[in-house]
Amino acid sequence: MIYSKITGTGSYLPEQVLTNTELEKIVDTTDEWIRSRTGIEKRHVARDDETTCDLAEKASRAAIEMSGKKENDIDLIIIATTTPDVIFPSTACLLQQRLNIHGCPAFDIQAVCTGFVYALHVANLFIKNGTTKCALIVGSETMTRIVDWEDRNTCVLFGDGAGAIILEESKTPGILSTHIHADGAYQKLLSVPGGISSNYNLVKSNKAFIKMQGNEVFKVAVNTLGGIVDETLQANSMSNTDIDWLVPHQANTRIISAMAKKLDMPISRVVVTVDQHGNTSAASIPLALDVAVKDGRIKENDTLLLPAFGGGFTWGSALLKY
Ligand code: COA
Repeated sequence: MIYSKITGTGSYLPEQVLTNTELEKIVDTTDEWIRSRTGIEKRHVARDDETTCDLAEKASRAAIEMSGKKENDIDLIIIATTTPDVIFPSTACLLQQRLNIHGCPAFDIQAVCTGFVYALHVANLFIKNGTTKCALIVGSETMTRIVDWEDRNTCVLFGDGAGAIILEESKTPGILSTHIHADGAYQKLLSVPGGISSNYNLVKSNKAFIKMQGNEVFKVAVNTLGGIVDETLQANSMSNTDIDWLVPHQANTRIISAMAKKLDMPISRVVVTVDQHGNTSAASIPLALDVAVKDGRIKENDTLLLPAFGGGFTWGSALLKY
């Protein structure tokens, strides 16, 4: 039996930090409102000349170094991103060139905040069927580029960053299961309604920004994440007590707390970074994972549950032995 196992993690956050107090000068909001409704205290913002690929490269180099592998050992590159550098080539191809890797498949996955879990699902299949031995999987985002800095409903929520892992073929688990879903019926609740072949005028006038019906998104997110947690535990004949660490998508501490409550897990067993990073979309789970690996909370053989939810709607989860 071939399994896949994480052998390296890495992350990168842009140097520039935007606090809630600084946001008070940009839109009609308060530090108290943002903290109480979202748990967010600050977020990182990429410089104008810093791109999604720049962030991805730094996170990837850190993950490669930790794994002990060389760039040329990598035989699959997947980047989950909603904010690619250019329309094409894919950001994964741009990253491949930066890392001086040639010939292996490289592609982007677009599932917004669930993107990293989708990428993990795909890479796990590639490894299990023998196509791939050593995959680089990255979540990297410059979400602040698609935020309307005049819309207080959304601009306080998002941040920039990148997280990466090396996933290798292994004789022992590894990834225990992955689960991915989508329902486009909810597309209007959370979207950027302008793009290349539809509403291009929004792109041309630099108004292709995130639109969100926050209340509705909140309700569906809490219910859906509860469902995916049940689905994942049932698929593995496990119960909540088998989980050592919950490493969820970092959108909002209230959504994360609802998940922890459903699992009857103390918040001390949940990796929370949204307070420091805001919502970094596809980057949020690998960023949180790297933080908790590097500070020593997550240890070898711990069982991790990684649930995610995002625009589309998309949702999914991964259960793994670290
Ligand atoms: N500062 C101050 N007031 C704000 C504000 C801000 N940044 N943003 C919104 N408000 C106001 C609203 O205008 C509204 O005022 P009104 O009652 O006078 O109309 C009031 O706060 C309540 O707005 P509401 O949207 O009901 O607040 P909420 O409790 O639902 O919290 C969110 C808003 C966005 C924090 C919450 O809905 C949420 O987290 N949703 C999920 C978002 C998310 O995670 N998206 C990504 C999923 S991957």
